Amino acid sequence: MPPEDPTRKSLRELGATEPVAIAWLFTQLRVRLSAELARASEEGGWDKVRDSWVGIGDTVSIRVATNWVETAPEQVRLLVFRERENLIEFVNIRLTVMQTLQDLGYTSPEAIPPLFQKLSGAFDGEIKACVDEIDLGVSRVNWVGRRSGVLTLITDNWLKPANPELKRTVGQELNKLKAHVESTLEARKRDVESLAERGASAKDRVDLSLSGVIRPIGTHHLIRQVFQEIEDIFFSIGFSVVEGPEIETPYYNFEALNIPEFHPVRDDMDTFYLELPKGAPGPLLLRTHTSPVQIRTMEKRQPPVRVIVPGKVYRRDNPDATHSFMFHQIEGLAVDSDITFCDFTGTIDYFVKQFFGESVKTRFRPSYFPFTEPSVEFDVSCVFCGGSGTANSGGTCGKCKGSAWIELFGAGMVDPAVYGFVNYDPQKVSGFAFGIGIDRLAMLKYGIDDIQAFFQNDVRFLGQFP
Ligand code: PHE
Repeated sequence: MPPEDPTRKSLRELGATEPVAIAWLFTQLRVRLSAELARASEEGGWDKVRDSWVGIGDTVSIRVATNWVETAPEQVRLLVFRERENLIEFVNIRLTVMQTLQDLGYTSPEAIPPLFQKLSGAFDGEIKACVDEIDLGVSRVNWVGRRSGVLTLITDNWLKPANPELKRTVGQELNKLKAHVESTLEARKRDVESLAERGASAKDRVDLSLSGVIRPIGTHHLIRQVFQEIEDIFFSIGFSVVEGPEIETPYYNFEALNIPEFHPVRDDMDTFYLELPKGAPGPLLLRTHTSPVQIRTMEKRQPPVRVIVPGKVYRRDNPDATHSFMFHQIEGLAVDSDITFCDFTGTIDYFVKQFFGESVKTRFRPSYFPFTEPSVEFDVSCVFCGGSGTANSGGTCGKCKGSAWIELFGAGMVDPAVYGFVNYDPQKVSGFAFGIGIDRLAMLKYGIDDIQAFFQNDVRFLGQFP
């Protein structure tokens, strides 16, 4: 027997610790035995085959007992034990039919039917154990194979050489066995096929009791959430949303907002100009603020105007914890026949309290924008130290640097010069405008200290704001 004989290894070494793999090992042994017997029936030496399988000493039967049964994992040991018993029965039947009845010691016809009964019973057991077409194919060859199947061997070794007293009985019993074997094989074949079909459809069946795969659907980006929060606050006091282009003309971005070409304030709003094809009308630039949409809106609408404008803006800023070359603003514009500075500060105060909570205070300081007059900068009482300037630890609040106030955004009453660009009568209308930096507001409200976190798209960060 070759050294790689699997019966010399343990089931674990063979990687066969599951029932299917174990059954397959035994099937292979049956195939091997059949091949050896087939060779023996041609070349002789079936007694050598017997000795190596069920003789004394180092035999397959002993090795299977010591290497497979004894070392089998607890939960499959019984299975391996039974498989071995079946195998030995299988070997014994094959060996029995290799000898003549005379060699086997049968002399009277009465002893013949029980012998066939035993064979028939062994066959039934073997067929019952076949769970797929491969098993069944092996058994079919072993029993009805024309050259060395059990039935052929019985014909050759039992029937043909039998003496006249036995021949009749043997012939009758053999015919019965033949019929039984053939019909049983047929029936089992149908069983195995339908078993396979059922197995296949079970594989396709959807098991509704399984818990399923959870695919996270994500959430809105924090910037988008803050946009919506702010939009909701302004919706509640009668504002509506308009949008405008991110690529603008200098006219809308500057001139119509009362920022003529060589006005120094343009230095603060240096931005990205587009490289245009030769002959194309230009120049064009990425808007530096959402204020151009004030102009676009007033060109299209007559007062009263109450709009907010969410969107992206661009400036040639170097990225750091508080600067980004792209960020977000919400512009606000209210123009009507008698809007006062009180309406303006009241609206801003309402918004800031809605956004940060009733307990915050607001204040404004004079500032300068070419398109508002007067212009102001709105501050909110520091949301980190509660407007005390003192941190919880007792030291100076690091966020407001002890000033108790945090700068929020620029705003003002619309400069009458702007109305000239949109054909509004500055004598009849007045209004206010503001430009809120969203990223900054989100950082303040949610305690984020690096604006870059918004744009790095790290889900570990983004996922914190569901
Ligand atoms: N557009 C200004 C900026 O981006 C903000 C602003 C808007 C100021 C509206 C006043 C009125 O800095």
